[in-house]
Amino acid sequence: MSLRRLTLVILVVFITTEAASGEEIKKAVGDAVCFRPNRIDPPASSIMWKHRNSSGVLLKVIEWDCNGFSIPNQRFKDITTLDKETGEITIRDLNVKHSGLYTININSKEQEQRFHLEVLERVPKPVIKTQKSINPDAVYLICEYSETIIWKNSAGKTLKGLKLHLKGEFIMVEKQGNPENFYTCTLENAVSEATSDPVYERDLFNDLNTRLVVAIAVSLITVVIIILFLIKIHFRDYCAACCRRFKIDKKITDM
Ligand SMILES: *[C@@H]1O[C@H](CO)[C@@H](O)[C@H](O)[C@H]1NC(C)=O
Repeated sequence: MSLRRLTLVILVVFITTEAASGEEIKKAVGDAVCFRPNRIDPPASSIMWKHRNSSGVLLKVIEWDCNGFSIPNQRFKDITTLDKETGEITIRDLNVKHSGLYTININSKEQEQRFHLEVLERVPKPVIKTQKSINPDAVYLICEYSETIIWKNSAGKTLKGLKLHLKGEFIMVEKQGNPENFYTCTLENAVSEATSDPVYERDLFNDLNTRLVVAIAVSLITVVIIILFLIKIHFRDYCAACCRRFKIDKKITDM
């Protein structure tokens, strides 16, 4: 086999596998997608796009021929357009049911090019839950979602979360002494990401208020005790003085 021939064979094998594996495209619900065949030659007299979902159900998406355009299936009505010059199809306002394999027939001949579409829901905006720990200077932050979770602190540093039993992750945060410190949890999938509202240190360790109340109460009690003690001393002195005077008075009257 000549080198030239070998190169050709390798090239053909490469192109075939490339075409068979097709393009993998991921989109979010509500997005639009375009698929375009590599080339159309000679000028096409008919074009048809087909969709096969993961259960193997085959649908005609859009067709163009001498009778014009037709979109027979409700799933693709009003959201699908076709450029008859380039063969490019556009589907807007995607939903999960549009996931699957798209192929194109040009002049009634199925092309090798394949387009795999996966339509995914956008991740929701997460909410961080908190849980006290035995240590009053540490709390657990919990993000209970099935998606990829990224924890960050206010310095922008990524924190390593630990897996929760069912779904989600938690981190343990310790009091840093700065009430403005905060933590966020971000959910991510192939098509979207969403970050929680920040959780501030000042809101995490609000048992600080309880401690403040206790401290104030203790000081008040101490002050009261001191006052009582002072009053007692005062009265004792007063009485002592009183008694002394009484004795003196008595002496005087006795004389
Ligand atoms: C494939 O399409 C059929 C017909 O619309 C539908 O009943 C079935 O649930 C679909 N399968 C998937 C995995 O979406």
